[in-house]
Amino acid sequence: MTQIAMSGVGVSFGATRLLDDVTFTVGAGDKWGVVGRNGSGKTTLFRLITGVMEPTRGQVTRVGGLRISLLEQHRDFGDATTVWEAAAGPFAELLELERSLAEQATALAVVHAELILIHPFRDGNGRCARLVAMLMGLQAGLPALDFGGIRGEKKRQYISAVQAALSRDYAPMIEVFRGVIGTTLKSVARTSF
Ligand SMILES: Nc1ncnc2c1ncn2[C@@H]1O[C@H](COP(=O)(O)OP(=O)(O)O)[C@@H](O)[C@H]1O
Ligand SMILES: [Mg+2]
Repeated sequence: MTQIAMSGVGVSFGATRLLDDVTFTVGAGDKWGVVGRNGSGKTTLFRLITGVMEPTRGQVTRVGGLRISLLEQHRDFGDATTVWEAAAGPFAELLELERSLAEQATALAVVHAELILIHPFRDGNGRCARLVAMLMGLQAGLPALDFGGIRGEKKRQYISAVQAALSRDYAPMIEVFRGVIGTTLKSVARTSF
């Protein structure tokens, strides 16, 4: 699907024609490189793409809802520690959310695995441990966790995650909780929109 399109675009500054008849489309997932000498018009091209500048001739179109992140040539990366974080600057809130969800999955998984191991699968301990996870999630601002998806193959994964936790390998349980949090958030999104 076309994300950005230029059609017959021209830019003139007074009598100087900087760009002439520029036509291209950028599709979803495309990776483009723009190469040119100093002063050949690369920055101008980006100014057209972001919409801070209108072309003298032709049309620039962007798909509805498109968000553009531009690293300025003379840049201040702020607190970013990776190129990806710097480029995703405008999406910092989403990155933060992703990070906090990952942290929550880890905290829930470790507590859950330890609770299960204290008293494995007896006297409703599994249910009790799920309730505790749900309460921890609620306290962290998550909706009530939906464990309903842990059936069949997922159930086998869950049981081997408990076994892995016996030797303090919590990674498989973290994976289980990432799944549970993901399923929960998706079903909440479905019912509220
Ligand atoms: N607003 C403007 N008015 C007049 N000339 C400009 C303006 N913006 C850019 N130019 C000129 O257009 C040319 C291309 O600039 P630019 O797009 O910054 O090139 P690049 O990024 O490839 O080095 C340069 O010669 C620059 O001086
Ligand atoms: Mg430039």
